Amino acid sequence: MTQSISLTRYLVEQQRVHGRIPPELRLLIEVVARACKRISISVNQGALGDVLGAAGTDNVQGEAQKKLDVIANEVLIEANEWGGHLAAMASEEMEGIYVVPNRYPQGEYLLLFDPLDGSSNIEVNVSIGTIFSVLRKPENGGAETAVEEQDFLQCGSRQVAAGYCIYGPQTTMVLTVGDGVAMFTLDREQGSFVLTQENIRIPADTKEFAINMSNLRHWDAPVRRYIDECLAGRDGPRGKDFNMRWVASMVADVHRILMRGGIFMYPWDKREPEKPGKLRLMYEANPMGWLVEQAGGAATDGRRRILDIQPGKLHERVSVILGSRNEVDRVTSYHTK
Ligand code: AHG
Ligand code: MN
Ligand code: MN
Ligand code: MN
Repeated sequence: MTQSISLTRYLVEQQRVHGRIPPELRLLIEVVARACKRISISVNQGALGDVLGAAGTDNVQGEAQKKLDVIANEVLIEANEWGGHLAAMASEEMEGIYVVPNRYPQGEYLLLFDPLDGSSNIEVNVSIGTIFSVLRKPENGGAETAVEEQDFLQCGSRQVAAGYCIYGPQTTMVLTVGDGVAMFTLDREQGSFVLTQENIRIPADTKEFAINMSNLRHWDAPVRRYIDECLAGRDGPRGKDFNMRWVASMVADVHRILMRGGIFMYPWDKREPEKPGKLRLMYEANPMGWLVEQAGGAATDGRRRILDIQPGKLHERVSVILGSRNEVDRVTSYHTK
């Protein structure tokens, strides 16, 4: 009989056999997974629980918060604040950082999250998710110095763990600690995440793109050129027909790319020229960018590798182009050449 490997065992082995993660990071990831299980219960309740609809408040991004945005944010904070592994948290749904209250021990990690990604899909019963990223608190003044927002402003290449949990037909957690990408499916009978795919790889070539086509008239020339060429199909310069998908939940669109390849783009456009893009660098682009790179794909903002971007502020936005390497390289070259 083949034994199934739980997330717990996978992490213990990453710690013990591969020496890749310290015990505190293992605890952190387990706690995030537990919080995601809790969020998935709320998501599944839907109209039977008091979880649908608007919260009646706006977040710092100027978006109207859904009840589930707020619930997921609270679940993640409550699950993570007492364990002693964290110094502070940052979230799409909170203006400032959340410092672990001093009634709990302070850890050395920083946790960033998009508690509920794909909010516009909640009411229509389409996949949504939670995205997270883990950094180490920089040792600027010793462990005693108070954590501040500045400590979070590190490049994505400094992440020590990143992942997402997708609440879809299955609840699935996808994770990297820098040793490839592994996928765990929630076994509801056992109540645990079980390893269902290891060493996920994104094919370098694809015939599928994901972009919100309704913004076509606002795009910059390089993006327009790339999509025009895809749309021209087998008679065009690409010599092949392309398919299109757009779920409008980044987790779902990126998950599809990890499973079968493709390119995802949410580029800067002329609607709001002063904004560098719609998606958030620290809790959407960085964790997804690292996962995609760990699976052999690429992630850029059209010019720079996402993971090399030095964030200037917590809620910084960025243009995102990620997925199958050869397609991302092509779009990037259209911007740079
Ligand atoms: P969030 O729900 O966390 O605010 O993120 C929504 C994001 C992302 O998930 C998705 O790719 C994109 O917004 C969809 O935007 P459009 O509605 O403009 O297509
Ligand atoms: Mn939002
Ligand atoms: Mn999001
Ligand atoms: Mn969100």
